[in-house]
Amino acid sequence: MFEELIQKRRSIRRFQDRSVEPEKIDRLMEAALRAPSSRSLNPWEFVVVDDRALLTSLAACKPHGASFLASAPLGIVVCADPARCDVWVEDCSIAVTFVQLMAVSLDLGSCWIQVRKREHASGRPARDEIAPHLALPGHLEVAAIVAVGYPERPKVGHARDTLLFDRVHFNRFGTPYRFEPKA
Ligand SMILES: Cc1cc2nc3c(=O)[nH]c(=O)nc-3n(C[C@H](O)[C@H](O)[C@H](O)COP(=O)(O)O)c2cc1C
Repeated sequence: MFEELIQKRRSIRRFQDRSVEPEKIDRLMEAALRAPSSRSLNPWEFVVVDDRALLTSLAACKPHGASFLASAPLGIVVCADPARCDVWVEDCSIAVTFVQLMAVSLDLGSCWIQVRKREHASGRPARDEIAPHLALPGHLEVAAIVAVGYPERPKVGHARDTLLFDRVHFNRFGTPYRFEPKA
């Protein structure tokens, strides 16, 4: 089951004009909250956004790679308090991954929108563009926004023979890893 999910997963940026059911939103957020975090400090905060005007504002937080959020039915803004955990970035990344895999299992599609270290066209941090729209407290950073919805059309998973197995080394860097099935 899990293997099928990860084989199917692709980034989806075009969505049907159909909202995500509240039950499914709840299961996405449950998945996020089940993510492991360093020392169990759980530094994240999530803002679930389904308001069209808000999504359109968030979509303008940076000039590239976010505009499609304006036509997504749902955005999950993944924030954290860096003072709560030094590895908040990793914690947020795992939570996003859990949400994205749960989305596949619910027949939804999703795409990660990077916010941390990204800038608005004005040169201001993308985070500062987002914050006033969501009434985010000043101590919260924004790692990413996950756009979620029903895919406009299916997208095939990556074929196994396109995967970068040459990046996998065996015992020592440079020694190719090879799987040889027993006859
Ligand atoms: C850390 C991270 C940041 C990403 N940021 C963006 C982004 O800002 N906008 C976007 O459209 N896609 C973003 N993506 C999605 C990647 O572009 C996508 O995963 C990659 O092209 C591979 O395609 P696939 O997910 O369909 O396998 C991001 C993915 C990751 C893991």
